[in-house]
Amino acid sequence: MDETKKDADWHGAQMDFSRSMSYGDYLGLDKILSAQAPLSPNHNEMLFIIQHQTSELWIKLMLHELQAVRTHIRTDDLPPAFKMLARVARIMDQLVHAWDVLATMTPPEYSAIRPYLASSSGFQSFQYRELEFILGNKNAAMLAVHQTSPEHHALLERELHAPSIYDEAVRLLGRSGLAIAPARLDADPTRPTVQDDSVMAAWLEVYRDPEHHWALYELAEKLVDLETAFRFWRFRHVSTVERIIGFKTGTGGTAGVSYLRKMLDVVLFPELFALRTAL
Ligand code: HEM
Repeated sequence: MDETKKDADWHGAQMDFSRSMSYGDYLGLDKILSAQAPLSPNHNEMLFIIQHQTSELWIKLMLHELQAVRTHIRTDDLPPAFKMLARVARIMDQLVHAWDVLATMTPPEYSAIRPYLASSSGFQSFQYRELEFILGNKNAAMLAVHQTSPEHHALLERELHAPSIYDEAVRLLGRSGLAIAPARLDADPTRPTVQDDSVMAAWLEVYRDPEHHWALYELAEKLVDLETAFRFWRFRHVSTVERIIGFKTGTGGTAGVSYLRKMLDVVLFPELFALRTAL
């Protein structure tokens, strides 16, 4: 075989995509790979942009999974929910490790790009806010940031009023014959989850006799896995931020590290952690 022919026939791989869909076509790579537009002349801004964009893509996948999880819990179809919750926890773990890449950015490197960021901040991430909401950390005040985007505002408004994944888990406890206070079942969905005695008693019953309540027990542990991974993410965020900007204020207008430290106190599934002391 002559050498030119051999090059054109590489292990049988298809080489001509004039009439069929290629890898780049399928993935929309032209769009994705042309969405990095550094504003500063600084080399390190590319890292900053790609770290945020990849995080947003993973958050998009988490939301896709979590919306389906909510439906599966609502319809008493737990095995697919378990599979998806495991996936979401692994995505979160991966985002925890992603901070190692950003931590290679030093204070002078960040200072060189900071003026170009103006007032943009992760605080304005509508997907992140949706993630907090679907997990039950509701806060109506956060919608104000999205006033200029009616589409994102409407999406968050819908999510604010929808039952969280944990609300659905609590309803499932009730459907499974465990006594849940009517006030908890009718709790205002726009408020953050608060610990409830009847929910605590129900989960305690599950944990005291796992064999009897295996599916609920497994659901609870999957939720604990997810919240644990989320806590690590919050911690790595604030630690990385402190390493890079110290105690300077954030581009989003908050006090910065001290604001993010307060967010470490958020508890998404309160009874699931409280019951550990009671067992
Ligand atoms: C050098 C890198 C980073 C710095 C210095 C930084 C700094 C901050 C600060 C100071 C805040 C508080 C709000 C403000 O005043 O701006 C914040 C919030 C936030 N950041 Fe970052 N951040 C960095 C990277 C990231 C990355 C890679 C993500 C990934 C998506 C991210 C997502 C968020 C989110 C979602 C919030 C809102 C948190 C909440 O309200 O609980 N940040 N960031």
